[in-house]
Amino acid sequence: MEDQLQRYAQNQRNQYDTTSRTLEEAQAQIAPNYLEVRRIAGRYARFMLQQYAIRRGGTTELSAEDLSRLRILDFGCGVGRVMEAFTELGVGQIDGCDISEAMLTHARASPSLQKSEFFLTNGQDAGAAPEGQYDIAYAFLCLHHIPMRETRIAILRSLAKVLAPDGMIFIELKIFPGATPAKIPPQHAHWSENMVATYTNSASDVWVTPDALGMVYGDFRLFFFDIALIEFDLGTNHFEFNPSSIYRLGFNELFVVGSRKPTLKKLAIS
Ligand SMILES: C[S@@+](CC[C@H](N)C(=O)[O-])C[C@H]1O[C@@H](n2cnc3c(N)ncnc32)[C@H](O)[C@@H]1O
Repeated sequence: MEDQLQRYAQNQRNQYDTTSRTLEEAQAQIAPNYLEVRRIAGRYARFMLQQYAIRRGGTTELSAEDLSRLRILDFGCGVGRVMEAFTELGVGQIDGCDISEAMLTHARASPSLQKSEFFLTNGQDAGAAPEGQYDIAYAFLCLHHIPMRETRIAILRSLAKVLAPDGMIFIELKIFPGATPAKIPPQHAHWSENMVATYTNSASDVWVTPDALGMVYGDFRLFFFDIALIEFDLGTNHFEFNPSSIYRLGFNELFVVGSRKPTLKKLAIS
């Protein structure tokens, strides 16, 4: 298994490093419509801050002072798209880690991320990100591109380590409500698989299908408490099969949220 994990990480690093030499190339790796996804990054950043605020004390807003004290880690930060959005909302410290030195070079050059620290990962960890420090760790447009279950589990383990005792994790995935295991296209994986894919970034993704939700929960429950699976319906047709689309069936966003220690019971009974 260790050999498989390393081969898969090497394949990922090669692809991102060789396709992201200029900033424009790197942005195209993140999304063909980069400017549009950059524009809406703030909505998702706000969503994460609201969820964090609720678990901290039942309100949905953090004060400017609370925001300025927050320390957040972006896993698979790419060129720093979501990190920039957190900075614009007033978050005090936002750091990033990534498997690709090319991506990190672009993120380091972002004018709004000059206070950030960046860490190169081995594909299964958070690099030299300090342990026990972060209030929030999140990954966006990243883990759904990892069809190797053991890699995802190793990443969750390392994110649990970097979180402060009352920290929270947010992992964005894609759920395919109309898919069954038999409908997952070749080169893409069911949640249960350990696929050593040669290519990544939509060429080989993990498809979260409804039958796999128990496994998703179980993997997060290894390291986190108060797991929430929150679906953002994108209004697509989940059953129409389009063979010329990379995703072929409609999908929704799926955020898996967890706390490093139980918090919701205390809130519910206080
Ligand atoms: C599609 S880009 C998304 C970048 C950023 N999260 C965003 O939403 O704009 C995926 C990023 O995840 C990084 N990545 C992929 N697999 C990784 C892994 N195993 N460990 C760390 N970073 C990884 C890639 O290098 C790339 O920068």
